[in-house]
Amino acid sequence: MLRRAARALALLALPAASAVAQPIGAPVRIETLLAGSPTVTVRVDDPVYKGPKHYQGHRLADVLRRAWPQVDRWAADGAELVMTSSDGYAPSMDLARALAHDGVIATRDLDRPEGDPWAPFLKGRETTTPAPFYLVWRGVDPADPHFRWPYKLVEISVEAFDRRYGDAAPPARATARVQNGFRLFVQSCISCHSVNLVGGNIGPELNVPRNVTEYWSAQHLAAFVKAPETYRARSKMPSFAQLPDADRAAILAYLQAMRGRKLCGEGSAC
Ligand code: HEC
Repeated sequence: MLRRAARALALLALPAASAVAQPIGAPVRIETLLAGSPTVTVRVDDPVYKGPKHYQGHRLADVLRRAWPQVDRWAADGAELVMTSSDGYAPSMDLARALAHDGVIATRDLDRPEGDPWAPFLKGRETTTPAPFYLVWRGVDPADPHFRWPYKLVEISVEAFDRRYGDAAPPARATARVQNGFRLFVQSCISCHSVNLVGGNIGPELNVPRNVTEYWSAQHLAAFVKAPETYRARSKMPSFAQLPDADRAAILAYLQAMRGRKLCGEGSAC
């Protein structure tokens, strides 16, 4: 009886144990961070409007340091900056990279009249705008997959890399090439694809229950990832011809290695 009670108590303690894995920087609403922060103006090469644009906003690095004075230490530990948009899109990028580059949280489009601060654009069949906030980058190639440009931005948080992507990580004994392939997959692919159900769902899951390398030949897989449009007309997957061949090969080595680590959610094997 006592033992059963002890076990019940141990089970009760589980949620507390998982509470330890909370984001290291809990989500903060952007508007609460901007008051008192100096405004800047930027000109960027804009991937949404596909051309040069001028914005007014606040420097991301300043906003992050105001939100969390210890943010540079988290960046040195490899943490991820997570951004949440009002439409549910929640991309992330390397925090150290975000702090080291010229990101600006845009609050208004300076090419627009003052009372109407955002230019509408077409997303699928809907017209939308980047309001309330839009993260833009000065001096960054808009096609560079290391940077995220979320619009409709409402919240930011910081998560340890392992907490966010641990279940998609390769087996501990994996080679350096596979580990590098995982990092590259996180940079270029995970916002659309999941591995072990960790990641986006714009494209298909690539590991469970069947790993994509179990039913695609290595040759077709390499050719598809390089240029999906040569396989499928109107493919929703962008071309990765600009990635060096060695990087694409490392990503595929990572995907193959994940055959040996299948998790179907909550860290349980399948
Ligand atoms: C913008 C979203 C997006 C990104 C980024 C993306 N993909 Fe895809 N991917 C898709 C979609 C959508 C499909 C489904 C097929 C289609 O539309 O052609 C797909 C299909 C695939 C398939 C074929 C799976 C199947 O069985 O049909 C593979 C393999 C794949 N992607 C690998 C990758 C890799 C590797 C990367 C990173 C280098 C990547 N994708 C980046 C959206 C994306």
